[in-house]
Amino acid sequence: MAKRKKKTSAANGSMTTGMIREPAEQRFAAELTALESADDRAKPAGWRLSPRAVRTFICGSDGESIGGVVIPRKFYGDDVLVERAIVTLASNRGLMMVGEPGTAKSMLSELLAAAVSQTSTLAIQGTAATTEDQIRYSWNYALLLAEGPTPRALVPSPLYTGMKQGQLVRFEEITRCPPEVQDTLVSILSEKVLMVPELEGDDSILFAQPGFNIIGTANTRDRGVHEMSTALKRRFNFETVQPIADPEEEVALVQRESGRLLDESGVDVDVTRDVIEVLVDVFRDLRSGMTSDGMQVERASTVLSTAEAVSVTMSAGLDASFYGDGQLGAASIARHLVGAVLKDNADDLEKLRHYFNTVVKKRSQSVKGVWADLHRARKWLPR
Ligand SMILES: Nc1ncnc2c1ncn2[C@@H]1O[C@H](COP(=O)(O)OP(=O)(O)OP(=O)(O)O)[C@@H](O)[C@H]1O
Ligand SMILES: [Mg+2]
Repeated sequence: MAKRKKKTSAANGSMTTGMIREPAEQRFAAELTALESADDRAKPAGWRLSPRAVRTFICGSDGESIGGVVIPRKFYGDDVLVERAIVTLASNRGLMMVGEPGTAKSMLSELLAAAVSQTSTLAIQGTAATTEDQIRYSWNYALLLAEGPTPRALVPSPLYTGMKQGQLVRFEEITRCPPEVQDTLVSILSEKVLMVPELEGDDSILFAQPGFNIIGTANTRDRGVHEMSTALKRRFNFETVQPIADPEEEVALVQRESGRLLDESGVDVDVTRDVIEVLVDVFRDLRSGMTSDGMQVERASTVLSTAEAVSVTMSAGLDASFYGDGQLGAASIARHLVGAVLKDNADDLEKLRHYFNTVVKKRSQSVKGVWADLHRARKWLPR
């Protein structure tokens, strides 16, 4: 099997830019520029690309070269959902993406913001401690004391900036904010204005510019959307993002994403498809409670998302590079699988052991290969 080439700094995006993770508009700058140059369709006011080009950016160009660049698919799943999301952003309602953890809600919101507004960094992270000021605006207290409430002393929030510049604003995990704080958005979404009563004249009212809208995300496992006020719900169009249905697509995604992340960390490790296939099978079996060949297993109580399959592969890859022979194998996978499965409930260790003693054992005898390696790696399960 061919060894991966040693990484050079040129192959490593993060090393050349000095950032651990570039925002989407920088990571995909060449694609966005190519799409923009070839885009001759009408664009909603304030948008960088037409709705069709935004869709192509997210769902790919099916091998076709656009402005000299083939656009790869970034979101695997329901393309119609992507189209509806884009339509919502051009309407007068906000977009709310809900779903299980790790179903690419944040990724979609970042890609949409990068394609529509050229920036994905106008983002508010919702927490139980988020305040109204963090959503609207706050003050630089030194300037406030020195010169009173002036435009110079006002510290704009990402939302304020998005309204002023006509750009999309992302509100991550919105349902983790107290409902009364979430409701700050009600008047902003319906009136598209933000009052600043402390300032005078024109400065006391901010009218949103065309192109402004809000993309919210909410996780169905944490605090659910049922706590969101009906007034706020009515101002959003909801889209539920489902886990990837097709195992082939999930395998391709995990291989591509973990390969990219390992590349970016500059390690030299060989990630083969057969190992990823086994990992994805294990995740799907424990997630659904049913193996692909119809055997019932106990479902893990934690979420085992595609995003977690990517991070287990990444950790296992680093492990293989640091402490192994640079070949990602079942032993590294087993060592890192445990943490992902047991994170919510230590009692799931029994379920995992049972899975190894039944499903993995059976496949180690019939399918052999990586399954046999994985069965041998059961010694890494905690006692
Ligand atoms: N359908 C999918 N298409 C493409 N990538 C996916 C898909 N599902 C999961 N992923 C992978 O999962 C990663 C993380 O997803 P993301 O953080 O956007 O999930 P999330 O839904 O926001 O999760 P959370 O609710 O925990 O915030 C993505 O970067 C991608 O690698
Ligand atoms: Mg998220």
